[in-house]
Amino acid sequence: MNVSENIKYIGVDDVELDLFESQYVVPNGISYNSYLIIDELVAIMDTVDSRLGSEWFAQLEKALCGRKPDYLVVHHLEPDHAGEILRLTEKYPELKIVASARAVQMLPQFFNADFSDRTIAVKEGDTLSLGEHTLTFYAAPMVHWPEVMVSYESREKVLFSADAFGKFGALSHQEDWACEARRYYFNICGKYGNQVQVLLKKVAGLDVNTICPLHGPILTENLDYYIGLYDCWSSYRAETDGVFIAYASIHGGTAQAAKKMAEILEQKGAGKVSVADLSRCDMAEAIEDAFRMSRLVVAASSYDAGVFPPMNDFLHHLQIKNFQNRKVGIIENGSWAPCAARVMKEMLQTMKSIEIAEPTVTIRSRMKEEDLPRLEELANEMLR
Ligand code: FEO
Repeated sequence: MNVSENIKYIGVDDVELDLFESQYVVPNGISYNSYLIIDELVAIMDTVDSRLGSEWFAQLEKALCGRKPDYLVVHHLEPDHAGEILRLTEKYPELKIVASARAVQMLPQFFNADFSDRTIAVKEGDTLSLGEHTLTFYAAPMVHWPEVMVSYESREKVLFSADAFGKFGALSHQEDWACEARRYYFNICGKYGNQVQVLLKKVAGLDVNTICPLHGPILTENLDYYIGLYDCWSSYRAETDGVFIAYASIHGGTAQAAKKMAEILEQKGAGKVSVADLSRCDMAEAIEDAFRMSRLVVAASSYDAGVFPPMNDFLHHLQIKNFQNRKVGIIENGSWAPCAARVMKEMLQTMKSIEIAEPTVTIRSRMKEEDLPRLEELANEMLR
């Protein structure tokens, strides 16, 4: 799989990784993408995670066909892309590293080596000519680290987009792009919607035929679809009209109330309604669903004078991922001193533009007939 005759794919699939970034399950693996541009001069576009360094070197050497690389362009210094920089520079002593000034500054944090005589710091709008191919660099700070940049190759109209437009899933695994791209986006870049918006405005000024991200497939067709989803996600607009109900239940009473709420909302034509058990589901998927849907209901048991920890964890994730701009309903359960709603409300109130729907519903141990009118009332308010 290549981008073109002169732009080769030299990335690797990691299908044995247990947790990406030590926290995200990747049941279908992940790819660490890397590219090679062959012209009068030769540029490597990022390395890979050292977990698969030997495999990557083999790919690189095959694609080089005896040539020597002149440049390594570092779009992002995170170790899943920069893992082989040291070995590469040892193997090719003439090779220059092209990176943002911030990346150049950060390089010694990751490698016990002095790269100062071989780094070229580039800034917004700088270009690098390889012959017929010319790269122009654009800063993309906080998409996903501060040193990130993207580059645009004008002859073939290729955008090397760093982590942007990436997804979980090895390239050997065929699957829909949006599902795992969305889970990847909200959990990895979700906090930085404003910075992604800035990048999208820069991309809008370019004539792009192909997007080459650092994870996931090379995107060649219908680019407006991918860019449109990124615009929706990064502006914190809901992608799907509906309600996501996240519950944290100890003995099933809260779960029963959450499921009843789902039933009531469905009957009222709430659009897509989905329910997640925070004690057992993939937290990253729950975060994704909260951002995806237009409304959220949180239902949790009281616990140790607070809220049951899986809900605390979920809301903490939403806080740090900059969750905002949604209507949220609250259901609590408490057998003797209900206090989950207070904690959930306090956490939600730290988030931007969150409207808490009233009433808050309190269940005592098990949902009863007399609780139904309050659930109905909350459902009506959620849909107003
Ligand atoms: Fe794929 Fe932020 O590294």
